[in-house]
Amino acid sequence: MRKMMIAGNWKMNKSPVEAAGLAEKIAGKVGDIRHVDIVICPSFPALTAVYEKIEKSYVRLGAQNLFWEREGAYTGEVSTLMLRESGCRYVIIGHSERRSHFGETDETVSRKAAAALEWNLIPIICVGEKLEERERGEVESVITKQIKGSLAHLNDENIAKIVLAYEPVWAIGTGKTATPAQANEVHGLIRALVGDIFSKEAASELRILYGGSVKPDNIRALIAEEHLDGALVGGASLDEHSFVEIVTGCLPDTSGAEAETGDSQ
Ligand code: PGA
Repeated sequence: MRKMMIAGNWKMNKSPVEAAGLAEKIAGKVGDIRHVDIVICPSFPALTAVYEKIEKSYVRLGAQNLFWEREGAYTGEVSTLMLRESGCRYVIIGHSERRSHFGETDETVSRKAAAALEWNLIPIICVGEKLEERERGEVESVITKQIKGSLAHLNDENIAKIVLAYEPVWAIGTGKTATPAQANEVHGLIRALVGDIFSKEAASELRILYGGSVKPDNIRALIAEEHLDGALVGGASLDEHSFVEIVTGCLPDTSGAEAETGDSQ
């Protein structure tokens, strides 16, 4: 049985002070939830301030990028050890914004993922096709290439620890969500690919998140699909109310949600 996960990608939003405030509110509302793994990913300068607000809750901290070398002359880069010491358990790798604006490739994604795992950080590895690729009928070939390349430096032992995120580029920040059926089709393809490259057991345990305009009103329909194990949320994760609603939307029964959150505010 795969545990649901909701990860908030705050991108280049929220100063450390703002981020700490939002984290505190989120932890206050859903910090007791154990049915869903909740991860928030602020910018690098906000990591420690956010960690202080969530460390006593079940909410976990994630970063949005890393570099694979341990230390040295790599101006502007951040290592896995630095992230670990800042309280991170997760790190988003290969987001489409990094691929399109900052030259991230499947090879660099794969090296970063391997480095993260070496230091016990769980990589959330992103893949997804562009609109023109979907229109040309290339979804399967694009995703296959990205998955093979992005997992190239991983092995049978560490593959089960990772999280994958399918984020169609045309659905990110656009308000256009893939239909649950469209998303499930690609998630099924990804699971089958991982089964072929690694093992069927690892593939069946692997969590695959959907990302792209996830909101409180579409989360339930998305996670009702067989291969969807939660969501990577951008815009809606910047608002305490919508993020909390997305998390509680993943609980088995909404009527029990309040009792389960332990929310007494
Ligand atoms: P969005 O972003 O939810 O704002 O579409 C998702 C993401 O980029 O991870």
